Parts: sequence; structure tokens; C-alpha cells
Amino acid sequence: MSTAAFRDLLGTDLPIIQAPMAGAQGSDMAIAVSNAGGLGSQPCALLSPEAMRSELERMQAGTTRPYNVNFFAHRQPVFDAAKEEAWRGLLRRYYMELGLEEPAVRREGEREPFGAAQLEVLSLFRPRVVSFHFGLPEPALLEGVRALGAKVLSSATTVEEAMWLEQQGVDGIIAQGLEAGGHRGHFLSHDLTVQMGTFALLPQIVNAVRVPVIAAGGIVNAQGVKAALDLGAVAVQSGTAYLLCPESRISPNHRQVLTGPEARHTALTTLFTGRPARSILNRMMRDLGPLPPSVPEFPLAGNAVAPLRAEGARLGSGDFSPLWAGQNASACRSVSAAEVTLALAAGAVLD
Ligand SMILES: Cc1cc2nc3c(=O)[nH]c(=O)nc-3n(C[C@H](O)[C@H](O)[C@H](O)COP(=O)(O)O)c2cc1C
Repeated sequence: MSTAAFRDLLGTDLPIIQAPMAGAQGSDMAIAVSNAGGLGSQPCALLSPEAMRSELERMQAGTTRPYNVNFFAHRQPVFDAAKEEAWRGLLRRYYMELGLEEPAVRREGEREPFGAAQLEVLSLFRPRVVSFHFGLPEPALLEGVRALGAKVLSSATTVEEAMWLEQQGVDGIIAQGLEAGGHRGHFLSHDLTVQMGTFALLPQIVNAVRVPVIAAGGIVNAQGVKAALDLGAVAVQSGTAYLLCPESRISPNHRQVLTGPEARHTALTTLFTGRPARSILNRMMRDLGPLPPSVPEFPLAGNAVAPLRAEGARLGSGDFSPLWAGQNASACRSVSAAEVTLALAAGAVLD
């Protein structure tokens, strides 16, 4: 592999991107990874513009190396009263069990897509890389990101999505295989049967596009990185491998299940946000099934679950919270994010 390909794209010493993981990490993990020679990522999907600004101020103070800033690019959902009512019908028994008031109905979700306010904050920092999940923002906003000089990446879960992204002029494509933890990045088709595993998807995308391809999903150690680079990836994006690091912000319960046999059973579920995302099975997924038909559109489903999550967390239970993880948590270790980065990169022969 030529190292020039990822250096031109990412500006890093190592072909490793620490996956942005909204809710699971912030600038301290991203700083550690960038300083170790990989590309640290700051997720912004759950941040207000003010919170985003303060995390990026920390990034700026913590590293002089390149880093990535990540956003969700979904469109605002249309509220559906009938769906909301059916959804609450499924959750009511939990409100009763936990002694909680049913929350007021809200027509907006808590995850903000990339918009003008985010672009304005981004312009103060001019990060080397900006990545999107769920497609791309509308053309004027995308142009604004490019005008800042950022390299633009986005996730593709099918060959069609990769070709579409290339047509829109992205600088690199993240081939996200079905093994990946957290949200599926699909945006052209919502049919989950068209989604493929990483090592089936990656070579097909590499064949179909000219832009550099980054492999994501189930890659947790040096051998996995080597295999992905052998199949034509210029770099790897790993998330789950970082979840037990001291820089990770996941709950004690999430940490605990990641170290046990439960971590071998994950499924795609819409229960926590309305979009399919991979989580370790918990009580709510077992009780309701991971993909029931009555879940409101992303991210509205999260509103009615929020009080259950908060109360569950207070009680130290993971029954009502997503336990995002990929299908391969076997290499998760409680070591620093820098150490995880260097261990992954040991699979790359650099010239
Ligand atoms: C806890 C968690 C949260 C995630 N959040 C995001 C996110 O905010 N933005 C994003 O683009 N991808 C997110 N992802 C998906 C990752 O970008 C990536 O596709 C995935 O971690 C790769 O698979 P792996 O977890 O098996 O390494 C998340 C993944 C995890 C595990």
C-alpha cells in the first residue's frame, strides 16, 4: 500500500481513524488519538453549537495534529401522531414499573443535523477533516465546508451509496460494514437486506469508485487492519475497540457488558432513536424485539425513551439504554486511546 494515499487525505502518520462516537467520547479521546499519530474524531451529533465550540476549543488547545469533526446529515423528521401514540403504548408498562410520569410529546428530536449554526462554529476551527453520517448536508452547506479547506468524508453502506457520494465530490468514502457498532449510515435505501459485511462491501466499493476508501466495522486489531488494507482500503475507522479506554464516556454498565459474553450478542435496533443501530442486547430489545414497526422516525423515538434511560442509568441498569457496540468487541481493553491506536496501526506496513 502506498502511504501517500492516506497522508494526502488525512494528514496523519498512521492510517487509523478513531471513529466518532456521539455520547461515548469527546475531545479528550480525539486529542489522545491525534497526538498518537492517528486521526481523532470529535462527534457533534448530540452537541449544541455552544457545546461544539467548547469541545473544539479543547481540541485546538490539546493538539496541533489533524483531527476530524463529525456530524449527522439526516433531514428533520415529520412528526406522526399515530406512530407516537403506538410507540408510547409499547413503553407505558416501563413508565409504570419505574414510577415515572409519561413525558410530554415533543415534535423535535435531540439530535441536530448539520446546519448553518454548525458551519459557523466550524469556520472558527477549520479542521483538516469533516465527516458525515447518513449522507451529506444540502449542497450549499457542503460547499461551505469545502470552502474551509476541509477534506470531506461520508459513510457508505452499499456500492450505490459510495457511487452517489463520489458524484457529490467527497474526498473519501467510509465503507461501513454491517458489523459496525452504533448507527448504520445508510441513506439511499432503508432496506436492511441490502447491507453487507465489511469484507464483502469494501472490495466492491474499492472497485466502483476512484476516491480513497476507508474500512469500518468489526476491525479491532492489527490483523484486521492489515486485511482491510490488503483489500484496498487506504485507512481503517475503528470505534468499538476504543470503548473501554479511560477516555471513553460510556456508563459503568456499558463497560461491564463489553467485557463479558453478552458482548457477543448484538443486534440492529431502532428502539433508542428510530434508526437502525447496533447495540448489545438488553432487556428492552429482548422484550419489544429490536425492530418493532411502530417506532417514530429518527430521532423522535428517543424522546419517549429519554426518561427511562435517565432512570435506568440512575439505578445502574442498562435495561433501557443503548449499549452500542460492533459485532467484534473481543479486543476491547482498558488501555489508553493512544495505545489502541498504535496497536491497530501495527497492522500497516508504512513506506
Ligand atoms: C458507541 C458508538 C457510537 C457511534 N457514533 C457515531 C457517530 O456519532 N457518528 C458516526 O459517524 N459514526 C458513529 N458510530 C459508527 C462508527 O463511525 C463506525 O462506523 C463503527 O464504530 C465501526 O465499527 P466498529 O465499532 O466495529 O469498529 C458509532 C459507533 C459506536 C460503537
